[in-house]
Amino acid sequence: MGLETEIRYLDDMKMVLYDKAWTRTAPNFEVYYMQRGIEEKNDLRYDITIIPPKMLGQEFAKTKGHYHIGECQELYIVLEGEGIFLMQKKGEGKIQDVYYVKAKKGDCVLVPPFYGHVTINPGSKTLKMGNWISKEYMADYESIETKGGLSYYYTQAGWVQNKNYEEVLKLHSEMPLKSMPRNLDFLKWSNPK
Ligand SMILES: [Fe+2]
Repeated sequence: MGLETEIRYLDDMKMVLYDKAWTRTAPNFEVYYMQRGIEEKNDLRYDITIIPPKMLGQEFAKTKGHYHIGECQELYIVLEGEGIFLMQKKGEGKIQDVYYVKAKKGDCVLVPPFYGHVTINPGSKTLKMGNWISKEYMADYESIETKGGLSYYYTQAGWVQNKNYEEVLKLHSEMPLKSMPRNLDFLKWSNPK
């Protein structure tokens, strides 16, 4: 595509993984790939993320995770494979909501305002997804790094709670969108400096 591919290595994300015993001895390797700004339209940009099927110890491969700063939404579309989009809403001192969306090729998933999100590849095939987001958006990785990830991990044994959160809410699931919204103007966001 002629665009530079950013690589997220294991060493960049050890602090957000479940299986700490495994991370202590695992050699560094490439976990996932990002191509940002493949397309730009109406103040939005389109990125692609590719997560090969790999285990990170007992946990399935995933993105590192971040919150969006401000009231910024993001729309994902699954291009290949299957993904689980885990999202949680940040509140004053505690998480206000946590849910996941299972999505397969052609499905879309919206990340609402103030939700941090992680995408997991739970399958044996490569997960490839595209996303539209404001060109002005800024990410907050630190809030998730300091907690060692979102409030749940997806492991070989299923969902496991992250004990770094004082209170972990019950996890619920939501359905993906079955098609791309026609108008993406609702994704526009201006940084309120
Ligand atoms: Fe995001």
